[in-house]
Amino acid sequence: MARTLTLLGLESSCDDTAAAVVRHSPGAPPEILSSIVWGQGALHAPYGGVVPEIAARAHAEKLDLAVEAALAGAGLGLADMDAVAVTAGPGLIGGVLAGVMCAKGLAAGAGLPLVGVNHLAGHALTPRLTDGTAFPYLMLLVSGGHCQLLRVAGPEDFTRLGGTIDDAPGEAFDKVAKLLGLPQPGGPAVEAEAAAGDAARFAFPRPLLDRPGCDLSFSGLKTAVLRARDALVAGQGGLTVQDRRDLCASFQAAVRDVLAEKTRRAIKAAGPVSALAVAGGVAANAVIRTALQAVAEAARLPFAAPPLELCTDNAAIMAWAGIELYRAGRRDGMSLAARPRWPLDTRAAPLVGSGRKGAKA
Ligand code: KG4
Ligand code: ZN
Repeated sequence: MARTLTLLGLESSCDDTAAAVVRHSPGAPPEILSSIVWGQGALHAPYGGVVPEIAARAHAEKLDLAVEAALAGAGLGLADMDAVAVTAGPGLIGGVLAGVMCAKGLAAGAGLPLVGVNHLAGHALTPRLTDGTAFPYLMLLVSGGHCQLLRVAGPEDFTRLGGTIDDAPGEAFDKVAKLLGLPQPGGPAVEAEAAAGDAARFAFPRPLLDRPGCDLSFSGLKTAVLRARDALVAGQGGLTVQDRRDLCASFQAAVRDVLAEKTRRAIKAAGPVSALAVAGGVAANAVIRTALQAVAEAARLPFAAPPLELCTDNAAIMAWAGIELYRAGRRDGMSLAARPRWPLDTRAAPLVGSGRKGAKA
């Protein structure tokens, strides 16, 4: 008979220092007892992007404090944990190392098993934490660093049906925001502008829709926005407020169409699945979310879209993935390695693209 498990989770693979405590009793929904996420946005803001060395140092300084806060928030001590789960890759290696070292120290000190979690698996298993989604399901992972369509059949059973060959969609949103003078992160800023814009004014490309398969591309789309902006500036000396709104709306519609069509194809390619699920910061976009929901409905599939705080990077999803892996028998020892690259689907050919935050899979 499976027993109740309580895991401490750590996440430090990019620019969030996070620790969380999650508990699961078989037959009951999992409980997030605490979840601490300390973003490093202010540290990196002057550089216009995440600086790996600064990130690693800040993680090393803050991780143990985040663990203390997570345990205090849960009203528990290390002795109440059944294991320590930690993101062991893929990601910025200095930050991943800081997390793995911290987790090893905690596990060794408290005599607890260690479970190394693939960051992408943490995202991909989130609908099981939030919605109890049954295996197998289709997952569209769309963030600033990732873009993959996955068939998820178990905590270590992922089949990649498609992925971006260049930029991740969130990265495209961020770059478009930058070239239109909007603040970072670009996604929410572009979405807000787009709300008052005309999505039909600019006929931006829908990359790779003319080719079969589920791979995606967003880099050409960003270049098309740049050209349209430059043409307006050259023709009229600058951009009007309405120009900017229309550029945002037309760009967002192109991203929406590409994600919707590739997801439609992935549903066909996946075979029987229990649901269409999404995760990642871009899944917060209402226009994109609505389009994906319509795709799910047309395929008569439930649509699982976790709340935003569990779509973006956090340690609760890593603790949950740790629980799933622990129940499947996974235990890692002190030899657990930090991995800059760690594809979820080891059978699939590596993708050409890597994403802003470093090679992910
Ligand atoms: O998952 P996430 O927090 O971090 C990782 O990349 O791992 O995703 C952040 C990305 C950023 O690129 C941000 O611009 C994008 O998600 N994003 C959005 C929206 N909110 C966040 N993109 C489009 N629309 C949004 N509302
Ligand atoms: Zn992530």
